[in-house]
Amino acid sequence: MDYIIKNAKIVDKRKTLMGDLWISDGKIKKISNNIDSVDKEIIDAEGKVVMPSFIDMHVHLREPGQTEKEDLVSGENAAVKGGFTHVCAMANTKPTCDNKETMEYILDKHKENGICDLTQISALTKGLQGEEFVNIDEMRKFTNLFSDDGVNVDDDEIFKEALKLSKEKDFKILTHCEPEVETIKRDLKLVEDVGGNLHICHISLKESLDLIKEYKDKGLKFSCEVTPHHLFEWDNDYRVNPPFGSKTDRDAMIEGIKEGIIDVIATDHAPHTQEDKENGAPGISGIEEAFSYVYTVFKQKGISLNCLSEKMSYMPSKLLGFSEALIEEGKDANLVLIDLNEYHKVNTNNFVSKGKNTPFEGKKVYGKVIMTIKNGELVYK
Ligand code: NCD
Repeated sequence: MDYIIKNAKIVDKRKTLMGDLWISDGKIKKISNNIDSVDKEIIDAEGKVVMPSFIDMHVHLREPGQTEKEDLVSGENAAVKGGFTHVCAMANTKPTCDNKETMEYILDKHKENGICDLTQISALTKGLQGEEFVNIDEMRKFTNLFSDDGVNVDDDEIFKEALKLSKEKDFKILTHCEPEVETIKRDLKLVEDVGGNLHICHISLKESLDLIKEYKDKGLKFSCEVTPHHLFEWDNDYRVNPPFGSKTDRDAMIEGIKEGIIDVIATDHAPHTQEDKENGAPGISGIEEAFSYVYTVFKQKGISLNCLSEKMSYMPSKLLGFSEALIEEGKDANLVLIDLNEYHKVNTNNFVSKGKNTPFEGKKVYGKVIMTIKNGELVYK
């Protein structure tokens, strides 16, 4: 089916323009004014914005083993509802995704019912124990991302070895830093010493940002992310890892975005049952409202949609080695249609994720994802 998105405001990292978009054979065939709409399905985008769909470098989909919290289908449905067409799922499943069998189980299940694209991340160490590496060569055949997210790799020598391996075998390590500042300090010192491909997950403190700035200023190559909830909220004791910071920390995160110190916004979508939350499980189910949290903050702070597109689409595409997430003729038609004039209250009854765990129930947010297109197909409307 050919689609024509009419009268859209087209926004990506590099540009903002008005026009029509012709989608054919899964690709953006033409961007122009007044494209002929004969034999094409018209999507009226008057007053709406079209952006590259979002790419999430950090989610928890809980399959196998904890499908009462989330499964691949509910998680991927939540993703496309949030405007994401690619998610990277962490390895803290049950059993841990630290072996070929579990990896194949997840990828096969995803293949059967996949709604968005999935990169399954491998654990870095067996059982996330921080002691013995997984069979890196074997897991590397399936993924270029390794992470023990959820726990810290405490042993300096093991982390140093991991960085060396990441360089040698060309993969990225996504780190859960806890305690945050001390671990980031150690990790960056090690990258300075031995190199390697490091991505620091969910930073939340001003001190972390200062450290990251210091090393980036020195020319060290690595990347980092912040979550929508750490941009949106502060001084809240709702249980999440890392915890919410102070107002100073949160304002630093916004400065980090503005100054280009923070590379990526990633959701850390962490669905839990109500019972698990009552028993202290950390995490927020956030992928469906991620855009709205970020846009609400960006609107208040006068940060552009081009910057939002950079942090939620372009930079993830670069870091993951995909085709750049930009709206250009010939690119895959991975797009999101947004109504910026819409505002709503967060309502977990509308969540398609099984996880209703959020501190933001009833909060008023701006902007809404109204359609998600993946490879030219409508995957959410
Ligand atoms: C994560 C989860 O639930 O898997 N929770 C979270 O608060 N980010 C794991 C973790 O990072 O603790």
